[in-house]
Order: sequence, then C-alpha cells, then structure tokens
Amino acid sequence: MPSLLFLQGFLQVLLLLVCSSEAYKPVIIVHGLFDEPNNFKTLTKFIQQAHPDTEVTALDLFDNVKSLRPLWTQTKGFRSALESKLNQSRESAHLLCFSQGGVICRALLSVIPNHNIHTFIALSSPLAGQFGGQRLTRFPVCQN
Ligand SMILES: *[C@@H]1O[C@H](CO)[C@@H](O)[C@H](O)[C@H]1NC(C)=O
Repeated sequence: MPSLLFLQGFLQVLLLLVCSSEAYKPVIIVHGLFDEPNNFKTLTKFIQQAHPDTEVTALDLFDNVKSLRPLWTQTKGFRSALESKLNQSRESAHLLCFSQGGVICRALLSVIPNHNIHTFIALSSPLAGQFGGQRLTRFPVCQN
C-alpha cells in the first residue's frame, strides 16, 4: 500500500510539472510610431481574457516622438530591454509587434543570437517596405 501512495504522489508531482510547463507563454509587445505602452492596455486585456494569467509586457522605450529616432538606435535599446526580459526566464515568449515595431522586432530577431522567441507576430507592419510616407521625412526631427 505505501508504494501505491508513493506512486500516486509521484504522479501528482509529475502532473503538476507537466501542467505548469503548459502555462501560456509570456507576450512581449513592441510599439510603433508615436505609440507608448499605454496604447496596448486594451490589447493586453484581450490577451488576458482569452488566456488568463498570461504575462504581457509592453516595452517602455522610445515612446511617442522618441519613436522617430533612427531604427538602429531603437533596435539597440529594444535589444537590451528584450534580452534582459528573456534572460529572466528559460521559458520562450511571444513577440507581438505593432507597425514600426514589427520592423524593429524583425531587426531584433536577426541581431540577437539564440533568442528564445517562440512566435513573432507583426501587426500592420511595413515588412515589405513602405510607400507614401515621404511627407514625414520633411520634418527635421525625422532626419538622422
Ligand atoms: C542575456 O544573456 C545573454 C547570454 O547569456 C548575454 O549575452 C546578454 O548580454 C544578456 N543580456 C542582458 C541584457 O542581460
């Protein structure tokens, strides 16, 4: 009988380990042009309604007009923030990137060796190039 109890306890621990590794992966959001993390509160709420207890983090860098900084400058900053987030856990994460954020995320995935991003989602991102934004380049703040 004691061996049956031991087996039952062992199975419970095993189930707990299996189930805890089945938790939803964290979601990391990179915002787009003229955005900031606050713009993703509703999206965060939707994710957590669909998948309760999911950790959702919108990286807080290059907010609003600072999102006009050169993309490689932003990539360096976001790289550091993303790596430090990813280094906190062995678990893989999903990268959800909006608009210009998708371009930055694509750069991040190409410069971070051995990243553990499971899924990269680019929402409304100009990954095949951009047409029609020439008016923005007339503003001095958009120049390098
Ligand atoms: C994250 O971990 C990698 C691999 O150990 C290391 O090269 C990198 O510097 C770390 N980045 C940060 C921001 O902690």
